[in-house]
Amino acid sequence: MPHGAPILVTGATGNIGRALVKQLSAAGVTVKALVRDPGKAAALQAPGVEIVQGDLADSASLDAALAGVDHVFLLSAMQPNQVELQGNLVEAARRAGRPHIVKLSVYGAGPDAPVPFARWHWQTEQQIEQAGLPFTHLRPNNFMQNLLGQGRSIAAQGVFYDSIGADTQVSQVDIRDIAAVAAHALTEPGHAGKTYHIMGPEAITNNDMAATLSGVLGKPVRYVEVAAEDYKRTLMGYGVPEWLADTLNALNAYYDSGYGAELTDTVRAVGKKEPIAFAQFARDFAQTFKTPA
Ligand SMILES: NC(=O)c1ccc[n+]([C@@H]2O[C@H](COP(=O)([O-])OP(=O)(O)OC[C@H]3O[C@@H](n4cnc5c(N)ncnc54)[C@H](OP(=O)(O)O)[C@@H]3O)[C@@H](O)[C@H]2O)c1
Repeated sequence: MPHGAPILVTGATGNIGRALVKQLSAAGVTVKALVRDPGKAAALQAPGVEIVQGDLADSASLDAALAGVDHVFLLSAMQPNQVELQGNLVEAARRAGRPHIVKLSVYGAGPDAPVPFARWHWQTEQQIEQAGLPFTHLRPNNFMQNLLGQGRSIAAQGVFYDSIGADTQVSQVDIRDIAAVAAHALTEPGHAGKTYHIMGPEAITNNDMAATLSGVLGKPVRYVEVAAEDYKRTLMGYGVPEWLADTLNALNAYYDSGYGAELTDTVRAVGKKEPIAFAQFARDFAQTFKTPA
């Protein structure tokens, strides 16, 4: 994937952003990695990677970061002001040379989605399109890496918790595959105007994940489904804001209604690789699930 002008990667210190910068650098692509705090950028240092200090809340920093850029990866954290933050980048892109925006969205994005962040992502998709910018919308399903947040519980007690039904199928996707799709969309022609739904290779349940982890770790791991109100209380006890705890429960209810099991060919067709199965993810991150740190 050779490429001339640098690719601007926002969200570079996050889960997908880190994987994307690594993959682009390994492919010989030059990258401008936008970070709020350069002190957090040590892990991003790699051949062809320039660390650029900036903030989606600071439009002047975005004007500077977009200089000489033809393609942008747009991602920020799930937060109530994400439409405003990402809108600043869209406006800066309009002022600049109208670069192609590869927008990290979410499966199910739409104006009437039952979870707020899926409506927020849809709003930004619309803003990009209405600004007349070349766009590619990436709509991934649930990340396998979300389970790493329960690594300690799995390591110490052999258990993980959620409010999703134990037998609800979701086509969980590994973030490395999302990064692969993004890398190709950013560096090859033919992806403008497209919306890609990004899924893992199989629709799996939390009971399936527990069984796979048991085999990989060589010890029993079980999934415990908890009532939505108990899950909310637990999350808030760990400092999760109430709107987010409610959102995660609403997402689980949406999954329980059967919406998350779709399979697509995007990782193979666009990312040009075999999608990572949950068993491989479990092997790759076994140390996290074994270490009760
Ligand atoms: N988790 C899932 O299962 C799932 C599924 C589908 C879609 N998604 C979507 O995926 C996205 C999150 O992806 P992720 O997990 O890779 O992200 P992440 O690890 O949460 O990282 C968020 C990134 O956004 C950056 N950021 C936040 N505010 C910023 C600002 N004002 N200016 C510049 N950068 C800012 C953060 O930088 P700092 O390091 O400076 O904080 C960080 O690099 C969300 O949009 C979410 O809706 C998630």
